Amino acid sequence: MTASGDGPVRIGVVGAGFMGRQHIEFVRAAKGAELSAVADPLAAVEEFGCPTFPSAAAALEAVELDAVIIASPNSLHVDTAIEFLEAGVAVLLEKPIAVDYRESIRLVQAVARLDGRLLVGHHRRHHPAVARARSALRDGTIGQVVAVSGIWSARKDESYFTDIPWHSRQGAGVMLINVVHDLDLLRHLCGEVAEVQALRSSHARGLAVEDTVSLNLRFQSGTVGSFLASDAGASPWGWDQSTEETLSFPYFPDGVAYQFTGTRGALSVPNLATYSYDPSVSADWHSPLSRTYLQVAPRGSFEAQLDHFLDVARGDAAPLVSAEDASRTLALVEAAALAAASGSTVDVAGFRADAEASS
Ligand SMILES: NC(=O)c1ccc[n+]([C@@H]2O[C@H](COP(=O)([O-])OP(=O)(O)OC[C@H]3O[C@@H](n4cnc5c(N)ncnc54)[C@H](O)[C@@H]3O)[C@@H](O)[C@H]2O)c1
Repeated sequence: MTASGDGPVRIGVVGAGFMGRQHIEFVRAAKGAELSAVADPLAAVEEFGCPTFPSAAAALEAVELDAVIIASPNSLHVDTAIEFLEAGVAVLLEKPIAVDYRESIRLVQAVARLDGRLLVGHHRRHHPAVARARSALRDGTIGQVVAVSGIWSARKDESYFTDIPWHSRQGAGVMLINVVHDLDLLRHLCGEVAEVQALRSSHARGLAVEDTVSLNLRFQSGTVGSFLASDAGASPWGWDQSTEETLSFPYFPDGVAYQFTGTRGALSVPNLATYSYDPSVSADWHSPLSRTYLQVAPRGSFEAQLDHFLDVARGDAAPLVSAEDASRTLALVEAAALAAASGSTVDVAGFRADAEASS
């Protein structure tokens, strides 16, 4: 089913927890969208001003939907998405696409088989600074990209771990919960990662899962990079502190999450500061570097993501983050975890091939 004519896209939301409730508010506020159903076994009937159901299947049975946003627990993502794709409904699926790379292959195959419209919710890619940085890196604004350095470090509250037990068990940890976003953006900005090395530590919190990781990356382009992440170390550095995306985090307007160096200059993201030599002269480390800021119109990532999803649902746009794209991000996170566990360099394409062969 596709949204017909000029009518609003009829959207259902599956999973009305922390993230689903935010999506519900975005749908309510969006032009061209109509909240038509909510499915969650814990949601009270009519709590959301639209029909409410105990399961995705019940919503699908009772209401005509053009699109669905799936924000249920990760283990349900693949089966629920396939259920809606088989009914011809467009899907915005929260990240991670699946619990692991092997499971994500099933969804990638289903999207191809059903010619499905599916967008994965790596919302940061919709931030205006990301599109601007990507075009600057591609059009040679800083010359050939030599290296990238990134950081995400913030001190999570104790209750994050004590009140939500799965946050301190295997399957969580800073890598799967937070670094997945950064690795997705680094892939989007620099292309595929060829090799990854990793060190991880749980020394700061003493939990079963890691609180701190340090990654080394070699991209297929030849660019090399490093990324440091911690949920134990307080800092102003990282995407969440450098954007106004989540109001419950402190915001540093000139903040930096990633720094790119090139043969002709440098770029930091998301503040979009560019440092460059005078283009008319042959320049090197003795030459002055001037700083300017690339300009973008401010826009929230989640609002932009929803607008894009409406276009995907109407069949007017290909998804910015396809199932296959997101599955590669998941594979990279797993390859990094393997590198940390084994203490060796992991070839990412080889890791994917092994997983595909054994799936
Ligand atoms: N994009 C982001 O930045 C971001 C941030 C947080 C969470 N997420 C993702 O959103 C998803 C949900 O996370 P959350 O933090 O909101 O979790 P949550 O536990 O707060 O919410 C999950 C909801 O799903 C409901 N649910 C459970 N089983 C269900 C079923 N069979 N059918 C329908 N609903 C069901 C639960 O009752 C709960 O209300 C996860 O995939 C998570 O990774 C994304």
